Amino acid sequence: MIGSLMMCVSVVVLLIGMLAGIVMGIQQNFLLGPAHAHLNLVGGVLLFLFGLYYRTFPTVGRSNLAKVQGWLHIVGGLLFPAGIALVLGISHRLEVVPIVGALTMLAAMVLFCVLVFRTERVRG
Ligand code: HEM
Repeated sequence: MIGSLMMCVSVVVLLIGMLAGIVMGIQQNFLLGPAHAHLNLVGGVLLFLFGLYYRTFPTVGRSNLAKVQGWLHIVGGLLFPAGIALVLGISHRLEVVPIVGALTMLAAMVLFCVLVFRTERVRG
């Protein structure tokens, strides 16, 4: 089920994000702070919450729309912070990467809205 995969990816992302935070602290270099923040919040916390929703409503979690939503968020949620890191750490010319990441996450969020509204309407 996509929800289980999302929660497993999320905890690994959070582990990496926390390690990156510790490295930033040790080096006293906070340049990549925004990449760290978005990796943890969007790639970690939000991904886990989506996974929990699919666990709570397994029929929704087994739907094809949930699979597409989950994969889009996994890809976008990793691409976006990676893109922020590339822009801040290497060059502003790479801004296409976070833009594609952000739009991918937005598409995933639109699908999640559809799933939640549809589920709530059925449940009354
Ligand atoms: C071992 C765990 C963590 C460590 C050591 C850590 C460390 C850091 C450091 C050093 C900064 C930069 C502070 C600065 O710019 O002055 C930071 C910023 C931030 N962190 Fe973490 N962090 C950890 C976990 C998390 C988690 C789990 C989240 C979210 C779920 C998070 C969200 C943020 C946010 C929102 C910022 C602000 C970024 C900004 O202002 O650009 N952090 N963290």
